[in-house]
Amino acid sequence: MKTKKNFNAAEANILVTGGAGFIGSNFIRYVLGRPEFRGRIVNYDKLTYAGTLANLEGVAAEYGRRYSFVKGDICDYGKVMKVLKKHRITAVVHFAAESHVDRSIFGPKDFIETNVHGTFSMLEAARHFWAGRKDVRFHHVSTDEVYGSLGRTGSFSEATPYDPRSPYSASKASSDHIARAYFHTYGLPVSVSNCSNNYGPRHYPEKLIPLLILNALDGRDLPVYGDGKNVRDWLFVEDHCSAVWSILRRGRPGETYNVGGSCEKENIAVVREVCRELELVRPAAANPALKGRAYADLITFVKDRPGHDRRYAINSSKIRRELGWKPAHDFRSGLKAAIAWYLRNPRWLAAVRKASYSAWLEKNYTRR
Ligand code: NAD
Ligand code: TYD
Repeated sequence: MKTKKNFNAAEANILVTGGAGFIGSNFIRYVLGRPEFRGRIVNYDKLTYAGTLANLEGVAAEYGRRYSFVKGDICDYGKVMKVLKKHRITAVVHFAAESHVDRSIFGPKDFIETNVHGTFSMLEAARHFWAGRKDVRFHHVSTDEVYGSLGRTGSFSEATPYDPRSPYSASKASSDHIARAYFHTYGLPVSVSNCSNNYGPRHYPEKLIPLLILNALDGRDLPVYGDGKNVRDWLFVEDHCSAVWSILRRGRPGETYNVGGSCEKENIAVVREVCRELELVRPAAANPALKGRAYADLITFVKDRPGHDRRYAINSSKIRRELGWKPAHDFRSGLKAAIAWYLRNPRWLAAVRKASYSAWLEKNYTRR
């Protein structure tokens, strides 16, 4: 049934895919905590190694029937369709993905399955379920890595041609193209965001910043790939969540928004800042795992990642200008908040340590 009403994010029944992962779980908490939000959220997640319901601890108790969880695969068209119908979904915010570049190098298959086929399946289900409605929204969450690697200067804008280099970024690029094709071909109200590197609470410790925090606390090596001079543009996760929420509320279908914190840093500088902050809040001298060493003594240069993109930097002037979005955290305050969260949540740490993330990495990387 077609309707002339506009989409209203504040009243929406939102299906969040990948809501048990790092950014998805922060997004669910962020939106449910917004005073203007009166709708409901269904979290649809396969619970791969990267997803855990520990990331949603306390949410069901606090929000009751406004939050629910369904375990499922985004590649399962029939199951997704059932959930869309049952919960009368009016918005999809699509985070679910295989998200780690290193894993994509050692095993690209799951990336093609989930990121390409899974996104296609989500778009098909939404297209058939909504059948031409315009008062709905499909927001596809993507990465700046689709734009490739920069030299010393310049930054990615929404007009930068795609040039993905890793199986991860190639699979995300592919999913972005399919999402935009559904807007142009079928009129599905799709928006896309391409965001820079996130960090913050509930970040799975295979990615640089949480890996550094956990390894440092355990007195393990802090692996730095190559010369440590690759540059990433860092954004605190809650600022990414507020960006996606402003796109849902005020963004236009068919548009792409780049999201970033204008916070470029060489990896080695990030490693040193993590060590410095840890020395302030949990001094190495008082940590028996360090056996008299400082955190910075753990820094270890290891072999470079194959095809390692040298530099990312994002130009986010469009979302700032058109939607009035801006980040609320700088790197120092964000890093403090992230480290404080890890120190306050020993049960979460114990659970992910059991998943032996380090063993996986150590198997694949060797000292230089
Ligand atoms: P994550 O790996 O922490 O979480 C991914 C979640 O998706 C997990 O809960 C996992 O169980 C779920 N999932 C994986 N495959 C699934 C499937 N087939 N069906 C259903 N659920 C499945 O990832 P993240 O860092 O939270 O990233 C979320 C999204 O944001 C991804 O699309 C990623 O490409 C994008 N992104 C991430 C960053 C970053 O810095 N982490 C930056 C820009 C964009
Ligand atoms: P990562 O967190 O994996 O994100 P991405 O590859 O998506 O940017 O890595 C961030 C940067 O840190 C990247 O340049 C690779 C580097 N890196 C290390 O030097 N050591 C590590 O142990 C990891 C995981 C990453």
